[in-house]
Amino acid sequence: MTAALEIRNLRKNFGAIEVANDINLALPRGARHALIGPNGAGKTTLVNLITGRVRSSSGQVLLDGDEITSLSQAARTRRGIARTFQVNQLFRNLTVLENVYLAIGERTGACNRLWRSAGSEAAVIEEALDHLQSLALSSDACRPVRELPYGRQRLVEIAIALAQQPKLLLLDEPAAGVPSSESHLILDVISRLDPNITILIIEHDMDVVFRFAQRITVLAAGAVLTEGTPDEISADPRVRAIYLGEKREAQHG
Ligand SMILES: Nc1ncnc2c1ncn2[C@@H]1O[C@H](COP(=O)(O)OP(=O)(O)O)[C@@H](O)[C@H]1O
Ligand SMILES: [Mg+2]
Repeated sequence: MTAALEIRNLRKNFGAIEVANDINLALPRGARHALIGPNGAGKTTLVNLITGRVRSSSGQVLLDGDEITSLSQAARTRRGIARTFQVNQLFRNLTVLENVYLAIGERTGACNRLWRSAGSEAAVIEEALDHLQSLALSSDACRPVRELPYGRQRLVEIAIALAQQPKLLLLDEPAAGVPSSESHLILDVISRLDPNITILIIEHDMDVVFRFAQRITVLAAGAVLTEGTPDEISADPRVRAIYLGEKREAQHG
């Protein structure tokens, strides 16, 4: 079966640092796959390489079997790749609905046609409201983003990614900055997304990762350390060593 996302021998260096060192990864359609690893391991860079924000030095990225390695970011978005960022990038003074509306308008070109067709505007609003409903954000539709608790702002980012009608959704620490009491709500919502969407998630909270992911890839110093089921990964002494080492570093500043 053709993988929804396949990465073959992908490499990227920033000067002397190998941030992606011969990465191989294959996600079947509908996968719930997590990417974990210490800070600086190259997780965000890998997402950037998949979206085309960063260009690889060598290797290939395939979407549904088609090579997309040389495509621009915009072309990859049109092919169905959407992502959220580690730090949120919303229009804070616009309402939740307006943010999602603009994202749909960008996809469909409706924003350029607004003054010509009132019908297209209504369709865009309807779709935006659907996305908000699927993320339990309907009650906040008309509030400016800046007034929302941070956890709900992070859900708006996911709504914007969904507005691109993605086949592949890349979530870079979607619960970062959110109190742990609220982070589970975000993951509950992500767990209920359309099962046809292939999801790759970067997440630090191991409880969340082990509950959500079917498979986990561990990245360390730009290379894949190991890949396996949550049970295999949690039992792996090398993974434990990395995370214990990181905790010790944090304690000693
Ligand atoms: N644009 C860039 N230029 C130079 N170095 C970068 C750039 N982006 C990331 N890096 C470096 O690449 C490494 C991996 O970073 P990143 O992918 O952000 O890691 P992670 O998301 O796993 O914490 C780090 O050492 C980081 O400093
Ligand atoms: Mg990162």
